[in-house]
Amino acid sequence: MNRPQYVLGVSMSNHDRSACLLRDGEIVAAVAEERLDRRKKSEGFYEQHLGSAVLPPYRAITAVLHEAGLTVGDIDRVVCGRSILPCRDDLLNQFPFPPEKVVEIPVPGHHIAHACSAFFTSPFENAAVLVLDEQGHRLEDDRFERMTWYTAHGTQVVPIRQFYGDSETLSLGMFMDAFATFTGLSEAKQPSAGKLMGLAAVGQERQQWPSLVTTVDDGDAYVRLSELDSFFASVLPRRVEFEGGIVRQLDDLLAKYWPVHWSSNLAADLAFKAQAELEGALLHINRHLKAQVGSENLAYAGGVALNCTANAKLSLAGWRDVFVHPAATDDGNAVGLAYYGQRSLAGKHRRPELFNPMTGPRYSQKAVEEAVHRFGLGEWLERTDMSDEAAERLSRGETLCWFLGRSEWGPRALGGRSIVADPTVPGIKALINSRIKHREPFRPFGISGTPRGVEQALDVGAALPSLAPYMLAVARARDTRLSQLQHQDGSIRYQIVQRAWQPEWFGMIEAFGRRSGVECIVNTSFNVLGEPLVETPSDAVRQFVLSGAQALLINGFRLDSADVPREYLRQIRRQAFQAGGQHPLKVALGIEAAGYCAAAITFLEDQEFGEEAAEAEGKQVLRAYYSLHLRGALLKNEHERSTELSKYLLAMAEFDGAVLEAASVLEATEQPETQAMGQFFTHIGRYGSAFRHASGIWAGTDG
Ligand SMILES: [Fe+2]
Repeated sequence: MNRPQYVLGVSMSNHDRSACLLRDGEIVAAVAEERLDRRKKSEGFYEQHLGSAVLPPYRAITAVLHEAGLTVGDIDRVVCGRSILPCRDDLLNQFPFPPEKVVEIPVPGHHIAHACSAFFTSPFENAAVLVLDEQGHRLEDDRFERMTWYTAHGTQVVPIRQFYGDSETLSLGMFMDAFATFTGLSEAKQPSAGKLMGLAAVGQERQQWPSLVTTVDDGDAYVRLSELDSFFASVLPRRVEFEGGIVRQLDDLLAKYWPVHWSSNLAADLAFKAQAELEGALLHINRHLKAQVGSENLAYAGGVALNCTANAKLSLAGWRDVFVHPAATDDGNAVGLAYYGQRSLAGKHRRPELFNPMTGPRYSQKAVEEAVHRFGLGEWLERTDMSDEAAERLSRGETLCWFLGRSEWGPRALGGRSIVADPTVPGIKALINSRIKHREPFRPFGISGTPRGVEQALDVGAALPSLAPYMLAVARARDTRLSQLQHQDGSIRYQIVQRAWQPEWFGMIEAFGRRSGVECIVNTSFNVLGEPLVETPSDAVRQFVLSGAQALLINGFRLDSADVPREYLRQIRRQAFQAGGQHPLKVALGIEAAGYCAAAITFLEDQEFGEEAAEAEGKQVLRAYYSLHLRGALLKNEHERSTELSKYLLAMAEFDGAVLEAASVLEATEQPETQAMGQFFTHIGRYGSAFRHASGIWAGTDG
């Protein structure tokens, strides 16, 4: 009998690194590095600056090999790839693969990895393939992969049109990133196009704004940097330090203007603008792609493909069905790279069938018990029938953490690692956003349901079927009990659960339906306080303790927070947070950025991170600490407290002699506005220095 063939795909982009192992063309396991190293987006640069080199996703590679019981030497082929630059040397320098087995996707070929991820996990025998991301590989002349069209059949994925960008001709991914940046929406220091899509539902059209996407008769669509610059010049304040600078590339543009806060009307209208332009551009692109490829099906990947609001309208381009690879950003490329390697190996290849996204490593019962004992919670761990217990608790209005089997591939919780609730409980969205997830209030929740439940609850008549299993489809609510979950534009994101993949998850929703009459539940990702989705039982217990949810249901066990003495729970909350290795102030500022200032301050108190702790970490931390408390005091109209904090902050202002001298020059000018500015700086500068010396708070730290 022939030995199976193993192909390992390793995605080594600057962020979203991941690994996937195929055995004879079937996925054995795939996991993103961020789940294992617990850093959202898992940037892969070396700690010490070593140019542009990146680290391989060690943990993900090890985890997928372990899942199959293999060692490095057992792999028949390793295929690596990265965005922008090559990576094979970085992989070989850090991981002991036999060099003759390691191939790299050719440059430019970042997009072929996305295309393979989309087509080879799609249920289609043939399809058009579209790849749209921020940027793929860079060419020697500094152009970059911007958009690529393919036609795919059987084991073939063949490019038919390649569109390149340059510093003036930006991709749609860059366009969305620019708008996310200027509306203050980010995640793990990266602009968040996903949040921008959510905010768009709250915004309105401003007819006086010019159109920004250039569409070309051949089906191309891109954005000119200069037009984007003129547009933002008309709506955003310019940064003084950029005065006189020239915008030569996207980074210059991003440095040129101040963002507006997402809670402003301007931000919402900007988000609306970006979303509307994107949707128009996508329809234009897809109509041309459809005309060029004789297929009814579209397979789609790249970061832009996660825009489910835009995707819901793709049927207007004439597609009968659309499949988006659930990990559409660069994490999904591990799957694409592995299939790319598989194509050229003789032997079996995948069958066109719906992709089962539950690809993460498996965890034993022992791992669950150890995780619980680590936090001294062992005596409260009980065996349970998860489906029945969850259904019962949900119908009592509880919010639960749910951990079952392998984790899901991609950014959406699909029932492997979920926080769940009853969608009919009044105010459930605000409750989960404000108490558990600390997400911006405009961000909606998705629902998971049985086919029958979703059909009854939502108007899914015209929906594209292959988007539904992955929480990538949207539809309007039909059942008025769910309308509170609707986005302002009337849509709800949903997952139709496949019984064959997830019998217990399916059974739980069915059992909940018997009690409530609704075979749908709220399903949001099981992660809090800025961490990635939980992966291991240990992450699950730790994040449950921090979440404030009523119970954790985990691989046949239950942990009920009501059983644990309150004071003990409070103590282990600190321990649980510290084990995550995050800085409390950074997390608090993240909570505040999502709109929950009071919760951010309470969180710091719970973590016993006070003035002394902040001061011990230096001026920058202390300033951030005071300014958070100042904003908190202002919100609560605490006049005395806010005055006191303002004094501290002004006293910390770093005005040296040169600044005071410059201020006196401004004061001496003839122009009243400039004079006033000079007086202002003189006053603050003198006050700051005087206060510093008088109070002695920072004695020894100032000159
Ligand atoms: Fe990409």
